[in-house]
Amino acid sequence: MATITYIEHSGAEHQIQVEDGKTIMQGAVDNLIDGILGDCGGCCNCATCHVIVDDAWFTKTGGPSEQESELLEGVPEPMPTSRLGCQITVSDDLDGLVVRLPEEQF
Ligand code: FES
Repeated sequence: MATITYIEHSGAEHQIQVEDGKTIMQGAVDNLIDGILGDCGGCCNCATCHVIVDDAWFTKTGGPSEQESELLEGVPEPMPTSRLGCQITVSDDLDGLVVRLPEEQF
């Protein structure tokens, strides 16, 4: 279990307990957080789960895979620490992780 902080583009913050093994996308969708859609259900196929990982956490989450990078090239405002939320699996190591949500998904 890890506490993940989701910060909406508006600045609204949500601290959510997410079970190990779930993804950042699932944690947001399960808790009805605006700003993450997860249209493909986590198949790395839609890029509607774009998140911007806080700089201090990017070494822990690691960078995107090749397939993920290709999808991220198409999101409205890619950032250097952009990831797809469905490709970050929660574990105790990510307790305290902070992600920001973009102004819009696709
Ligand atoms: Fe579709 Fe993440 S939910 S790419």
